[in-house]
Amino acid sequence: MPIVEITANELDVEKFIKDKTTEISEAAGDDTAINALSGGVDSSTVTLLGHKALGEKLKTYFIDNGLMRKDEPQEVVSIFSKMGVNVEIIDARKEFFAALKDIDDPEKKREAITQTFYKKVFGRLVKESGARHLLQGTILTDVDETVAGIKRQHNVFEQLGIDPQETFGYKIIEPLLQLRKDGVRKVAEGLGLPEVIFNRPPFPGPALAARVIGAVTPEDVELVRQATVIMEEVLGSVNSFQNMAILHKDRVTGMRNNMREFGRQIEIRSWESTDARTATPMRVDYETLFYLADRITKEVQGVVSVTYHIAKKPPSTMEAV
Ligand code: XMP
Repeated sequence: MPIVEITANELDVEKFIKDKTTEISEAAGDDTAINALSGGVDSSTVTLLGHKALGEKLKTYFIDNGLMRKDEPQEVVSIFSKMGVNVEIIDARKEFFAALKDIDDPEKKREAITQTFYKKVFGRLVKESGARHLLQGTILTDVDETVAGIKRQHNVFEQLGIDPQETFGYKIIEPLLQLRKDGVRKVAEGLGLPEVIFNRPPFPGPALAARVIGAVTPEDVELVRQATVIMEEVLGSVNSFQNMAILHKDRVTGMRNNMREFGRQIEIRSWESTDARTATPMRVDYETLFYLADRITKEVQGVVSVTYHIAKKPPSTMEAV
């Protein structure tokens, strides 16, 4: 069935919340369900909709894949605990790094992450909890880009002809399929989520693996994680859709303490966009960029080059991988 888009303008938040709560209850019936919360606006919205609909019958997990930003698992769990939603952290770091080992190709990296999430980790959680359904926050932009063959988003199945029941052994419920990011933010606010969540900049499902070009290692994820902390501190007040620090695979010649250093490169992207379908680089002022470059090259070991991305989407995409 084709998905009928609900634009942010035409969205009636109260009606949407009521309709989707009913739909989730009807789809899950008396069964238990699970969902994974990453703290992004999509999965946070689904978590609250799901708890409204299913109460104790929904079990929420934070999957620590080793690819999240600094302290993210603990911070997200604490935000939800204040709202009375209990979230269990699942340590799956070893499984994700093992699955990603030596994989260079972007689509194969995404596929490894998808399989590890859906087959291994959710497969195990479904078995342990006796759940028959997984609730998740796929939005229309994820479906569009995957179906168009631009980028395989980690959370799209049915539109690619993949039956989750057959492939993974559980059903998937996707209450946000008709919305884009701007619509989801309105629903999140309507559900009473705090501003740090409803205005949270997007962060992709493959997390920092989407920000390491080439094979993903724990060491390289740690480098891009440190650069991300600094980037978020310095660009925090830039009114953009999304900012990112990306670690390049290629090294370049630099110099430190009068010695040659064949070092690493970080690329910074700051995007202006409304729905992620098209995007334009923000005009971040040079003083801010120089300060950011100084901090990254001083504080992130081995980085000798920092560049700022200036091409639009299209032909770029927002994430580099
Ligand atoms: P791209 O790179 O496709 O990004 O221009 C558009 C928006 O989608 C996010 N993104 C993802 N989100 N799973 C997600 O949940 C993914 O695999 C994925 N890839 C990209 C990206 O951060 C941006 O907001």
